[in-house]
Amino acid sequence: MKRVIVTGAAGFIGSNFVRRALETQPDWHLVGYDALTYAGNVQNLAGLEQTGRFEFVHGDICDAPAVAALFAAPVWGLINFAAETHVDRSIHGAAAFVQTNIGGTQVLLDEARKHGLEKYVQVSTDEVYGSLGPEGRFTEQSPLAPNSPYSASKAGADLLVRSYWRTHDLPAVVTRCSNNYGPYQFPEKVIPLFITNLLEGKQVPLYGDGLNVRDWIHVRDHCDALISVLARGTPGEVYNIGGDCELTNVALTHAILRELGKDESMIRRVKDRPAHDRRYAICADKIATQLGWSPRVDFATGLAETVRWYVENEAWWRAVKSGEYQKYYELQYGGR
Ligand code: NAD
Ligand code: TYD
Repeated sequence: MKRVIVTGAAGFIGSNFVRRALETQPDWHLVGYDALTYAGNVQNLAGLEQTGRFEFVHGDICDAPAVAALFAAPVWGLINFAAETHVDRSIHGAAAFVQTNIGGTQVLLDEARKHGLEKYVQVSTDEVYGSLGPEGRFTEQSPLAPNSPYSASKAGADLLVRSYWRTHDLPAVVTRCSNNYGPYQFPEKVIPLFITNLLEGKQVPLYGDGLNVRDWIHVRDHCDALISVLARGTPGEVYNIGGDCELTNVALTHAILRELGKDESMIRRVKDRPAHDRRYAICADKIATQLGWSPRVDFATGLAETVRWYVENEAWWRAVKSGEYQKYYELQYGGR
């Protein structure tokens, strides 16, 4: 069995990754590690311990002794999802972003180096490249030019990972993915926020002129890409991951409205986000050529499936929106 530590396992992509890896990698034993911030929810991992190949440990990536304890048994791989992830929150306060995204990554890198492992994967974002004009796509050679405290902290972590590979030969890989959507996404990000607002009969707040472009990828495709990087990625490399699905926010909003049978009167135009990146688009040729991965979920199908998931899991998002799941955790695990 390959023992794989998954930090940030109780969040959106981490929990989807654990589920997907349990399905497709029979020789992996996964240890989920998560601080359970406002975005982490143990209910996202409900039932997975029963597979006998998953366990959950509550802890912070900034806590070096707690991270060291994860290495008490040999670790084959570590994949780091743990982060503060919302751009708008980073505009209101950057401290937690620097602490977790940079400081926490440094702790993980030091413990990985001290104890040894076969592969370290840093899950990063296309946002480290900054903003594109109407033409072109980000490649792994694009310069880092982050515009928000969130993306700046992710870029800082990417550079730290690179330095540990160069300086200490740590077998580390960085991935940079475009915007994800799918089940279990926290309803502060645009797709689940808009779906759940509409289900509650509320309007959806569209920033600025709504012509900003994002390159959407279904979370299952992202997780499959990460599994191939963890298994077969070359240390020292960066791999871009993208959905090849560029949409303006206006087009995205109309697609969500259509799916829920609502009209344009549900759109509320609001003030733009400061330094709002205009366009992201990923060139994912490298991972396609070198690791044979490409996205499979078509956007219309993936969006319909996602809307259905939020319709069918109203208790999940209502609890998350109201902070109820924190109480569930205290009942289940006896406090924090
Ligand atoms: P999320 O906010 O849903 O989950 C983050 C998780 O990290 C939560 O469970 C939270 O409790 C945990 N966490 C936060 N601080 C921690 C700490 N100090 N110690 C331990 N755990 C901590 O985010 P997500 O959307 O699942 O993103 C996961 C990763 O993927 C992030 O690194 C993000 O930058 C990256 N990413 C996200 C997207 C996207 O579209 N969501 C795209 C590309 C890359
Ligand atoms: P978001 O989901 O926050 O992801 P990111 O900023 O990391 O790309 O936002 C996606 C796009 O949707 C982005 O262009 C900002 C826009 N947006 C809105 O128009 N209204 C909203 O309420 C939110 C949260 C985002």
